[in-house]
Amino acid sequence: MHMKLPVLSSAKNLKGQRIFLRVDWNVPVKGAFASEDSLKLTQPLAYIKQLAERGAIVLIATHLGRPKGREAELSASRLATRLSTHNFNPQFLGEALDTKEGLAKAQDLVQRAKPGKVFLLENVRFYAGEEKNDPKLAKAYASLADIFVNDAFASSHRKHASIVGIAKPLPHFAGPDLVKEVAALEKLLLKPKHPYLAIIGGAKLTTKLPIIKTLLKIADKVLIGGAMAHAFYAAKRMEIGKSFVEKEGISVARKMLKNPKIVLPLDAVVAKKVAPGAAARTALVSAIKKSDAIGDIGPKTMLAWSAEIRKAKTLVWNGPLGVADIPAFSHGSLVIARAMAMRSKGKAYGVVGGGDTLPVIAASGMGEWFDYVSTAGGAMLEFIANRGKLPGLDVLKK
Ligand code: 3PG
Repeated sequence: MHMKLPVLSSAKNLKGQRIFLRVDWNVPVKGAFASEDSLKLTQPLAYIKQLAERGAIVLIATHLGRPKGREAELSASRLATRLSTHNFNPQFLGEALDTKEGLAKAQDLVQRAKPGKVFLLENVRFYAGEEKNDPKLAKAYASLADIFVNDAFASSHRKHASIVGIAKPLPHFAGPDLVKEVAALEKLLLKPKHPYLAIIGGAKLTTKLPIIKTLLKIADKVLIGGAMAHAFYAAKRMEIGKSFVEKEGISVARKMLKNPKIVLPLDAVVAKKVAPGAAARTALVSAIKKSDAIGDIGPKTMLAWSAEIRKAKTLVWNGPLGVADIPAFSHGSLVIARAMAMRSKGKAYGVVGGGDTLPVIAASGMGEWFDYVSTAGGAMLEFIANRGKLPGLDVLKK
């Protein structure tokens, strides 16, 4: 059954209608602005412009980082410069919506706004009630708008006031990017074609355990890379030297050792220290020395996994397979990205996602060859793990 989400009809007269539009503009505010962040920022722009052209008054809401209170560095106003490079200049409305005065001022500004006006609200996580899904805060948000649209798939696993609470007091709809994301990820769950190959990387096995459990039921093979694989080696009492291992992951891995669907790397790229400039060599995983630290999958694994990819009809990948931000340990992830991209959009249905995986896809230069590149991290994992159930989606269906 395809998920039915309510959408705003293109025939609806939006002139003067105030729309509270939740997007996910949670991008790093420090350092260089990478292309993967730009994808998160630019994705909703066409829709916002369309709503404004239809005469709506748009109030854009997002979270930014995980602030403890009002941290100036995480103010949504910081997004303004980045948005202006995309010729997009909403009016920043920084009033504190959890205070009587702030809310009254915001209400007044919005009331006086002309059709087509676009506001950017302050970081919703500046309010104590946001993450608690406080109905009082949801009511304050709702008092500014006539309609709620959630176009933030990447935040829809959070039971927060601007995702869940606000849908109760207002007529609510799913935005176009959210609908697209749900449709793309649903294909991984509903009658997927076989062979079905899942590739899961990352550092911590416990974080990825729920998605791995579901994938072990629906996929034919689950290839495990990244430091998560070390927990399996440790569970088998193999030498992993100085490699990072999540302690809690070892007992979890032990319970899965006999699962025939789980495939571990055969060899690795190792160094004395996984750091920039390290002298790296390759070694079979059975020949790791006490002085070694594993930084990537090795060439034999790259070959074997690429061959698996070439046979697959459904492919999903989340999480880097090595320490991909250090060039010497990035090859495994890049090879897999390219092998998957070559197979996707035609021979197989290929989806990739996750915050740490996106820089690899950007570096591979082959993002457009995947059937879908998800900008969601935790939400993508939970969507697959819970077979399409997320608090932010469930509330839209009510
Ligand atoms: C993400 O970046 O995955 C989303 O924006 C959710 O952020 P959060 O994990 O801080 O809720």
